[in-house]
Amino acid sequence: MGYKIHIERTKRSRIGNVDFSNLPFGSIFSDHMFIAEYENGDWDNCRVVPFGNISIHPALSALHYGQAIFEGIKAEKNNEGVPIVFRPQKNFERFNLSAERMAMPQVPEEIFMGAIDHLLTIDRDWIPTSPDSSLYIRPFMFAAEEIVGIKPAERFIFCVFTSPVGKYYHHPVRVYVHDKYVRAFPGGTGYAKCAGNYAAAMMPLREIKKLGYDQILWLDGIHHRYLQEIGTMNIFVIIDGIIITPSLHEGTILHGVTRDSIITLAQEEGYVVQERDISIDEVIDAHNQGKLDDMFGTGTAAVLSHIGEFFYKGEVYELPPVELRDVSNKLRQRLIAIKSGKAEDLYGWLYHVPVGVYAAQIP
Ligand code: COI
Repeated sequence: MGYKIHIERTKRSRIGNVDFSNLPFGSIFSDHMFIAEYENGDWDNCRVVPFGNISIHPALSALHYGQAIFEGIKAEKNNEGVPIVFRPQKNFERFNLSAERMAMPQVPEEIFMGAIDHLLTIDRDWIPTSPDSSLYIRPFMFAAEEIVGIKPAERFIFCVFTSPVGKYYHHPVRVYVHDKYVRAFPGGTGYAKCAGNYAAAMMPLREIKKLGYDQILWLDGIHHRYLQEIGTMNIFVIIDGIIITPSLHEGTILHGVTRDSIITLAQEEGYVVQERDISIDEVIDAHNQGKLDDMFGTGTAAVLSHIGEFFYKGEVYELPPVELRDVSNKLRQRLIAIKSGKAEDLYGWLYHVPVGVYAAQIP
């Protein structure tokens, strides 16, 4: 306990320039951000400052060797106007899991949650209230060693900014099932939310976008056969009423917080959920037999987004119209209602920011 957070307020808020009824995803940033520095084995210099550029050394190790991780969390306001954050504890745990894999220090809960508490208090007016919108919280950490040689860094910067966002996907996602490039393999970094996982996807992503697809559905790195994830989302398939999603056991896919929430809600509704290996052949067989009811992805940014069609080895496979997908539509609505405080929070998923406590401390 006892990390002091210094606060410098912006002199000129930009909030008046924002059209909150028509928010893009990820290109508008709230007035403040949080920064903490790690050196000599501890965190120091925790501060909330006006959002802006960070000055960095050209030899900054994160830029050269990719020691960098991030998270995505969403906040809304409940009917009383209190900022509510969806399962930040899970993201905190995953952040430190990623940190461990990338030889980075653990961020204390006091700093991680303190950053959220301070930012959501000082910038609470930036939390949108229109449908399908929320405040996206982006914690990230990068190695800040200023040296050309390769070694695990000993200096790091932890930063959090927030961004009022609208929908990530505006139409059913067109997915390209890649049979050549892979995202992860056992022993690799697939389960970590590290920058490198996304960097390695960029070239194949650019290629498939040229063909009119939105995202890649990655297959496993050994057999090129089993579904892994989409990069922005975990994948779910519904075959003959059974909900199937790849298990986390190999350490190749992200431990999605939305994934976990959807599994919980589906089981509560009485659906059978299987966490297991599922091959692309099984999905195609189900499609050919008319048993492929649904495919959708889950993620913080994407919430629950339907897949419209997928491409695999020269063939396009269409999924049923979204309005007929009763199971996923029901789960999506339930999740959205819980996240916005409109449905009962049976599982204690919502964190209520104690604005009163922090507002009194913030100058
Ligand atoms: C998220 O869903 O929060 C993500 O990190 C996915 C994407 C925006 C990169």
